[in-house]
Amino acid sequence: MSNENHEFPALKNDAILKVARGEKPHRIPIWIMRQAGRYLPEFLEIRKHHDFFELVNNPELAAEVTLQPIRRFDLDASIIFSDILVIPQALGLEVLMKPGIGPVLPEPLREPEDLKRLNFGVDVSVKTKGTLDAITLTRKLLEGKVPLFGFTGAPWTLMSYMIEGGGSKTCHKAKSWLYKYPKESEQLLENICEIVIQYLVLQVKAGAQLLQVFESHAEYLSPDSFSKYCLPILRKIVTETNSRLKLQGIATVPMVVFAKGGHFAINELSKSGYSVVGLDWTIDPKVGRQLAEPGTVLQGNMDPVALFGDPETVKATAKAMIEKFGTENYICNLGHGIYPETPVASVEAFIETVHSFQL
Ligand code: CP3
Repeated sequence: MSNENHEFPALKNDAILKVARGEKPHRIPIWIMRQAGRYLPEFLEIRKHHDFFELVNNPELAAEVTLQPIRRFDLDASIIFSDILVIPQALGLEVLMKPGIGPVLPEPLREPEDLKRLNFGVDVSVKTKGTLDAITLTRKLLEGKVPLFGFTGAPWTLMSYMIEGGGSKTCHKAKSWLYKYPKESEQLLENICEIVIQYLVLQVKAGAQLLQVFESHAEYLSPDSFSKYCLPILRKIVTETNSRLKLQGIATVPMVVFAKGGHFAINELSKSGYSVVGLDWTIDPKVGRQLAEPGTVLQGNMDPVALFGDPETVKATAKAMIEKFGTENYICNLGHGIYPETPVASVEAFIETVHSFQL
């Protein structure tokens, strides 16, 4: 298998790629959002000695952290250890990861005048070199055990971090831009979209075998705002990424769209050109199936907090969920990232249950 000019070890477990292409896998594939993270003692150990973005920008350390959950669990995919906020950083904004608080952007965008501070002419390959090199190194170190995901934040989610200056309960500052400065907002989203497309193409060239686009802040938007400011951009991301890869003679890879809280858009998303639609835990899998076009590959959606139950409860919850999704056209995952302090035994019970289904 080769992407661009890299030679990588042959892939041994292609279950997730098969499902994403609409083929039948040997078992239900499972991976876990934020699978490399603070519930793993070996992650906490490394994190003691390094700042978050120091890990992200060091290919050896990022590859090591990416591999930690793969060594421990029988997962069907890996996801590169990085963050969606590498894009605001590439554009020139400072981003800090504060323990116990999360991401902080000390100088957020306050008004359209501040857009001058963003450098959209940036060389994305230079600014994201740490993650791109980590992808290439991880592909080698994985020895073909499972495929590797690359990822990005979607433009609205990135725009909202750049305006809010961090996490927010309401996102009202960023949403205000959509109503106060619609033209500038649209231009900003278009400009971020172009950078995101470049970044995704670079990740595939570096060795990513699937891509996930995180629209984590869909949940703050009204259906109308989502239709106006997210859907066309999400469609453009998948169409353009694929066409640019084809133009360069590089094979396209399956793309997953995960719009957290975007139930109102499931049908549109299932027709938007993505191979897979991710669901959060607040929608019943049967309703998700009804809303999506027939044959859509769905991913999700167990409540991450269900993993705080004992292994028997985890097994029963996972089994009930899979029975609702059905075993076909399905990739198992949580409905959002795994929380710190999640018991490792629950993760094991979850994965075992998923793999116990006969296809
Ligand atoms: O899934 C993986 O294992 C890959 C790594 C990954 C991280 N962040 C590592 C991380 C991925 C895919 C992300 C995506 C990401 N980052 C999203 C989209 C997914 C989602 O959660 O909706 C968002 C919104 C971010 C921004 C971000 N980064 C937040 C809000 C936080 C703090 C929240 C928290 O859990 O503390 C981060 C920090 C972060 N990103 C951590 C990890 C492992 C924890 C940081 C630490 O070690 O201190």
